[in-house]
Amino acid sequence: MTDAPAEPTRIMEIGTGFMASRVLLSAVELDVFGVVGAQRLSAEALRQRLDIHPRAATDFFDALVSLGLLVRAGEGAEARYANTPETAAFLDPASPSYMGSILTMAGRRLYQHWGNLTEGLRTGLPQNEARAGGDPFEAIYADPQRLEEYVAGMAGVQHTNFRILAERFNFARHQSVCDVGGASGALCIAIAQRHPQLTCISFDLPQVTPLARRRVAAAGLADRIEVRSGNFLTDDLPRAEVIVMGNILHDWGTATKQALLVKAYAALPPGGVLIAVENIIDDARRENTIGLLMSLNMLIETRDGYDYTFPQFDQWCRTAGFRSTGRMPLAGPASAALAWK
Ligand SMILES: C[S@@+](CC[C@H](N)C(=O)[O-])C[C@H]1O[C@@H](n2cnc3c(N)ncnc32)[C@H](O)[C@@H]1O
Repeated sequence: MTDAPAEPTRIMEIGTGFMASRVLLSAVELDVFGVVGAQRLSAEALRQRLDIHPRAATDFFDALVSLGLLVRAGEGAEARYANTPETAAFLDPASPSYMGSILTMAGRRLYQHWGNLTEGLRTGLPQNEARAGGDPFEAIYADPQRLEEYVAGMAGVQHTNFRILAERFNFARHQSVCDVGGASGALCIAIAQRHPQLTCISFDLPQVTPLARRRVAAAGLADRIEVRSGNFLTDDLPRAEVIVMGNILHDWGTATKQALLVKAYAALPPGGVLIAVENIIDDARRENTIGLLMSLNMLIETRDGYDYTFPQFDQWCRTAGFRSTGRMPLAGPASAALAWK
């Protein structure tokens, strides 16, 4: 028996994956999924609503069909395009679980910056707005529209994780939560809505807190969520029974990761818990592709950040003084890593 001959399909799919990626990012940019909404539209109706060129329309729509991002009933002039259950839930802006904001941010920023990956691999230096030097967050936040899109993008990518954490973690045992680097306040909003006994602090840089205050006020939770400005590198962390860090530790090198965990330990009471919500890489570093790619994204976006495995988290937490650790799976590649004081 001979081995099946090697064939290059997977290599080509990955090598040209940027085409599929760009089709989705442009579809989000053009609001294809919002325009389709709950309707079944002909190619011509959809083309006109999106204002795209006749030459491009059916290839674009049928590419989305073949990628499983639209469904089509019928052929030719009779064809009608509709959202899939996933695009209706996650990419139609009218949906409460909309998360297209992360793809808007990816399309406007990361798509270009990842074009410099080879340079990042050679130099180890950020390839984003901080390419010329300076602090990456200062550089990203220098443009108010980019700041707004970045913060909305963070809320989009974590939406499902925050919902699952609010459901599964036993917040009923606690009275206070601080979300360190809380960005838009999305996590505090999700858990305050579900757990009426909790008061929350969303702590972030002063450039970000006005956006969070707006969202907290719009959610009618200003009496239970305090949005506090500060700098976690130079200030103590606010005291709380539960401290959450969503996609914070991966932004920084080992020394800052360790320092943040020491600060979290100091801000917690005995019995308090730290929760890191990240794409924790599998222990053998073979399977969590999104986690590994996210770590390369930290090469592009930060000076020394990287994603990590649970044993690494456990070791840093024990060094900081925590007595035990655990993990809770969240959506897809994401987990909550927990450490108890
Ligand atoms: C990758 S985002 C994560 C946002 C959010 N926690 C989440 O899970 O989506 C990192 C957050 O850390 C905040 N941040 C960065 N440096 C900070 C600092 N020195 N002090 C306070 N917040 C900071 C950023 O403004 C941003 O909101």
